[in-house]
Amino acid sequence: MELKIVEAPFGFRPRIVMPSPEIYKRIGEEGVRKLIHDHYALLRKSEINHLFPQDDKAFEQAEKNSADFFVQMLGGPQHYFKNRGRPMMAKRHAAFKIQPGSRRIWLRCYQEILPKLDLPEDIVLSFWDYLNLFSLWMVNTQENSGNGTRETTLA
Ligand code: HEM
Repeated sequence: MELKIVEAPFGFRPRIVMPSPEIYKRIGEEGVRKLIHDHYALLRKSEINHLFPQDDKAFEQAEKNSADFFVQMLGGPQHYFKNRGRPMMAKRHAAFKIQPGSRRIWLRCYQEILPKLDLPEDIVLSFWDYLNLFSLWMVNTQENSGNGTRETTLA
């Protein structure tokens, strides 16, 4: 399965196509939570670890917020909406310096875990395409403008 990272000019926000509802039907809330857990475990060991909370409890909370979002977005209960309100993803990510390279590392962590899911290729690809394109929306800092040190936390 080839999961290729697309490149785009800084500031480009492509139209997003939502992933196939099949993924949630097959792996359910528990499966989505496991996926995000695995992703966060890789992020924590990655070169963009510094963007995430260093404290264990705060890191777990960050992971939970993300999992709530993905459960909801993929068709499950609206945990994120209840706990955090409107997603406004680009706005929430504006608190962090996310460079094109940070995005590549974030996506690479998914490249490592998505092929291990026991799902048909087209379903995995529909989720990958969503992540690939929507992650471009979160890039808010050009390369060579510092190392993207974590300077703030989300409210
Ligand atoms: C471009 C690569 C990305 C990077 C480097 C990145 C990084 C981050 C960081 C640093 C946080 C804050 C963690 C915290 O302190 O609480 C965060 C939160 C979050 N990210 Fe991302 N992110 C990226 C892409 C995405 C994408 C594409 C999505 C959705 C499809 C997403 C969904 C979320 C969610 C739901 C949260 C939690 C927001 C909240 O606390 O309410 N991220 N991300």
